[in-house]
Amino acid sequence: MSGVVDGRVVIVTGAGRGIGRAHALAFAAEGAKVVVNDIGAGIDGSATGESPAEQVVAEIVAAGGEAVVNGDDVADWAGAENLINTAIDTFGRLDVLVNNAGFLRDRMLVGMSEQEWDAVVRVHLKGHFATLRHAAAYWRTEAKAGNPVDARIVNTSSGAGLQGSIGQGNYAAAKAGIAEMTIQAAAELKNYGVTVNAIAPAARTRMTVGAGGAMAEAMAAPEEGFDAMAPENISPLVVWLGSTESKDVTGRVFEVEGGKITVAEGWRHGPTQDKGARWEPKEIGPVVADLLAKAETPVPVYGA
Ligand SMILES: NC(=O)c1ccc[n+]([C@@H]2O[C@H](COP(=O)([O-])OP(=O)(O)OC[C@H]3O[C@@H](n4cnc5c(N)ncnc54)[C@H](O)[C@@H]3O)[C@@H](O)[C@H]2O)c1
Repeated sequence: MSGVVDGRVVIVTGAGRGIGRAHALAFAAEGAKVVVNDIGAGIDGSATGESPAEQVVAEIVAAGGEAVVNGDDVADWAGAENLINTAIDTFGRLDVLVNNAGFLRDRMLVGMSEQEWDAVVRVHLKGHFATLRHAAAYWRTEAKAGNPVDARIVNTSSGAGLQGSIGQGNYAAAKAGIAEMTIQAAAELKNYGVTVNAIAPAARTRMTVGAGGAMAEAMAAPEEGFDAMAPENISPLVVWLGSTESKDVTGRVFEVEGGKITVAEGWRHGPTQDKGARWEPKEIGPVVADLLAKAETPVPVYGA
């Protein structure tokens, strides 16, 4: 039986655990050859010495699929390049890059350290850009050489990046940057045959239940029936976005949770008043009041 991504070569970053692991297994089940990247980081990015990616590769191979491990840090420039080359050297090409790796260092902005800011912005925002940059250069070279390119990038944003999340200012800013970079890259890479979309997932992983509390309770698996918070629920959309069928979809962000897929509608021009001349500061109050009365009410920040 043929799968929706038969023979396509796919990189999934941070695929040793959680949502990335589910993506890697789902791509392999639909016929893709998978590079399973994971640095084996702790929940806060610290080194653990574990290599969960090897277990994922073993599972894929045991099920009759093809997969290879890569242990590079996605936010390291040379590491990201090596990751892209791992796909090309092992399987002869690259068709799909799924950027998923990352970790958290939660703190209110007022108490956040420089290191907490830098580490989280680095792993998510630079960790998406570095891999995207090296993959895009490969696809541009292929396109210029006249080789057919039907490639995909699927990025991972977050509800925190789209709506904000109390105590996660570093993460929210990085994830908002990823949503914008998705639109940016979609526009810049269109002519090379590359689409770029993003997801904002919600699922039960160590990232969401690790701290325990109300979030962990809300995400607990039910005793029977549909397990809406299983990470496996996120992957079908990502696999489809990685397929050739999705070629007309680009520059979009999809929220996905359980059986629900929502297309996010981001920044757009709202109500406008144009005086046709420079405003005086004392004129602005009623203008802003009128604009805000006509505008959509913002979605509340998580936890506010
Ligand atoms: N779980 C959710 O509900 C949720 C919600 C919104 C967004 N996300 C995003 O989904 C993605 C996956 O999260 P998860 O919940 O599965 O978390 P997870 O902690 O289970 O998995 C993340 C994986 O990334 C790996 N990793 C960390 N830094 C890395 C690096 N520099 N290079 C390579 N690998 C690295 C870790 O070792 C880990 O295996 C993340 O980008 C996260 O921000 C998750």
